[in-house]
Amino acid sequence: MKRICVVGTGYVGLVSGTGLADFGNHVVCVDIDKDKIERLKIGEIPIYEPGLKEVIDRNVQAERLRFSTNIDKAIQESEVIISAVGTPPGEGGEADLQSVWAVATVFAKNLKDYKVFVNKSTVPVGTGRKVYELIRELAGHNASFDVVSNPEFLREGSAVRDFLHPDRVVIGSTNPKATEIMKDVYKVLYLRKTPYIETNIETAELIKYASNAFLATKITFINEIANLCDKVGADVHVVAEAMGQDGRISPKFLHPGPGYGGSCFPKDTMALVEIFKEAGIRSRVVESVVEANEHQKAMVVDRLKELLPDLKGKVIAILGLSFKPNTNDTRFSPSKVVISSLMKEGARVQCYDPVAINDFKREFPDLDYKKNAYDACKGADAVILMTEWNEFRGLDLGEIKKLLKTPIFLDTRNVYDPKEMRERGFTYGSIGRTFIR
Ligand code: UGA
Repeated sequence: MKRICVVGTGYVGLVSGTGLADFGNHVVCVDIDKDKIERLKIGEIPIYEPGLKEVIDRNVQAERLRFSTNIDKAIQESEVIISAVGTPPGEGGEADLQSVWAVATVFAKNLKDYKVFVNKSTVPVGTGRKVYELIRELAGHNASFDVVSNPEFLREGSAVRDFLHPDRVVIGSTNPKATEIMKDVYKVLYLRKTPYIETNIETAELIKYASNAFLATKITFINEIANLCDKVGADVHVVAEAMGQDGRISPKFLHPGPGYGGSCFPKDTMALVEIFKEAGIRSRVVESVVEANEHQKAMVVDRLKELLPDLKGKVIAILGLSFKPNTNDTRFSPSKVVISSLMKEGARVQCYDPVAINDFKREFPDLDYKKNAYDACKGADAVILMTEWNEFRGLDLGEIKKLLKTPIFLDTRNVYDPKEMRERGFTYGSIGRTFIR
């Protein structure tokens, strides 16, 4: 078991640090955000992530997990330093690596005895080598360290489970000594026979982008098929189910919707397009995925206009602001595109989300935020279900119908049954099942 310092307490850093402590390691999570660290020290969790608080509390009590703003001391005390800082999209879509260079610099400054620098953030292919060169330049040619790429595949909303029970662990390294140390970090998983992929740094870095871009492509593909279903009178759910029976395709990630969002797929697909360009070639597939996903988000309001042609002066209820359920994350959320476009059309928006309202307010401070789904629907000319939170799956539809001025329901997550909705008297729209109207 190792002494580990995790730099960055965002989704990936906080969950990884906590999970690694749960595996028996001694972990200190550091961040430059003093407020965040103070909150963590008193047991407050800065993000909404089911199950995370319990695992944090358990490991803090067992004295395997601590929080600090003293990054120098935390690095000095640790053998493994994990960089889990943000790599947001820069101006041209490429990943902004400022924070990664900052962590490498402070690592170099505190390097006395052998340490491993681990890149867990999603970083472009070649970053690991650049980090190695930067540290060597700053710490001197005799400095004793290795750089490892160890990408993370957790999903927001099920992050704790995904970290504790991963499908695979990827370790990209040039030195067997560092690989062995990483195996010790993940010893619990190794004993449980979780598949390990040991490879070079570049391959590990690319595995993460290829995985995310492939999943984003799968979603985009089924979204296009859903749009076609609406034109030709087919049912996308039956198409997806039958496609998924083929083991080569699998039924997962074939659920149509208003376009993918979040902090990962949008940023990583854009970054991969740039990585291709830097390598002197083009990814026509990923470029098209980025473009088609923008179109999918924009299409929601067009779809609403088929049900309610003139939006000027109309009141529209929006259910769901986070990019998916069980998270407060609103980064690249399709709801942002839909709400902006509704406002441009002259509509007024009443919205509700179980946990993401405060996050949404940062970008949209003046929206009419409501206390629940029913308040949001009260007096509205139409409702759009944007995020499939459980509480939106079991709505009292009779009550919703009474509250709406006109019973127009656009279900972008295909939560409800079109036939049943029609029988209840709704003018109902969905994605890829319109013929059942
Ligand atoms: C994604 C990957 O699934 C993780 O493996 C990866 O580790 C993570 O990015 C990352 O790079 O850190 P996440 O963004 O949390 O995880 O969420 P997903 O559950 O993958 O959903 C992403 C988006 O796709 C959401 O907007 C969701 O609504 C949409 N989606 C997903 C669909 O529209 N249809 C589907 O069938 C599945």
